[in-house]
Amino acid sequence: MPAASAETTQVAVVGGGPAGLMLSHLLARAGVESIVLEARTHEEIRTTHRAGILEDQAVRLLTETGVDSRVRSLGDEHAGIDLRFAGESHPLDFRELVGATVTLYPQNEVFVDLAAARARDGGDVRFGWTVTALADLETERPRLTCTDAEGAEHEIVADVIVGADGSRSLCRRAVDGAQDYRTSYPFAWFGILAEAEKSAAELIYTNSPHGFALISQRSETVQRMYFQCDPEEDVADWSEDRIWAELQRRVAGADGFELATGPILEKTVLPFRSFVREPLRHGRLLLAGDAGHTVPPTGAKGLNLALADVALLGEALAAWYVDGDARPVDAYSDQALRRIWRAQHFSSWMTAMLHTPPDADPFSIRRALGELETLTSSPGGMQHLAECYTGWPNT
Ligand code: PHB
Repeated sequence: MPAASAETTQVAVVGGGPAGLMLSHLLARAGVESIVLEARTHEEIRTTHRAGILEDQAVRLLTETGVDSRVRSLGDEHAGIDLRFAGESHPLDFRELVGATVTLYPQNEVFVDLAAARARDGGDVRFGWTVTALADLETERPRLTCTDAEGAEHEIVADVIVGADGSRSLCRRAVDGAQDYRTSYPFAWFGILAEAEKSAAELIYTNSPHGFALISQRSETVQRMYFQCDPEEDVADWSEDRIWAELQRRVAGADGFELATGPILEKTVLPFRSFVREPLRHGRLLLAGDAGHTVPPTGAKGLNLALADVALLGEALAAWYVDGDARPVDAYSDQALRRIWRAQHFSSWMTAMLHTPPDADPFSIRRALGELETLTSSPGGMQHLAECYTGWPNT
């Protein structure tokens, strides 16, 4: 039984990253009350570098709900990408291929904007609050226990609990007997932030005999780049010179392309995983974002999927509270999973096509080049990639 002192709310949201905050924001706009509990501090999330590509519909969601002032002024619209292989560039123009673009705007900035919007609107977002257990998920009064930033224990009783607590989700682990799908990869990404000029107008995704590299950007003066590495790689073994030499040899080609270099501000190894939990619901617990599914970063889908989940879930919960219609909540898992599996396919396809596993045989290395050649010589092939990269509408 809940303690007499338990707090109550309509929706308890576990996790205050972009997914949890956007959900709370959407619920507030529909007149639904929520409490967001986030174990990390605002500063920790703000300074954790994550991917940076937003689909048009993610930008639209921010715009339509009044969280867009910075994405509009600081976001950098990209009309395509460059697929580079065998030392040659193959530009894909998304605007021409599918009439859509993407926006480079880092995930930590989306977080800052959403946290500011919640604070502005008087939202109840508690940083430094760690959820320790969930209970009564199969009843109409699910509850959770949590510890606040000072270590005091609390209990919260809600109508619904949403687990938006990331890839190591406690909420997901609180449920037994569901189906988990996963696959792992024999490589990771070595990510750097560097003080340098842009090396090219668009992002460059490179397949090379030395492995994958991605040349991304953050601003006119700070750039983000990644190269495929061993999952156990130690960043301490990589000097600036060694990193630049490795990146340069991966993008090198007969066209003489050279990276703009500069001081490296940060180095991290990013794990690579694909994961889906089915269904995304257990009684009164619903999962959203990385808590329910993880994709490798090659397709830049992680944040976009999380925002698509909560757009759907926000609408479904509003229909339930405002119109008394439970059907959209009942349909949430199946509906979200359709997009999630498309993104799983796209992310693992891009990963396989662009990376070289450490034990790859010469045949599979040449086969991947054949695939890239087929893709870039076919308007239909490029259109398919453009359609996936710029995102699918919620169906
Ligand atoms: C990034 O800029 O961090 C980024 C961009 C595209 C990706 C992954 C990461 O596919």
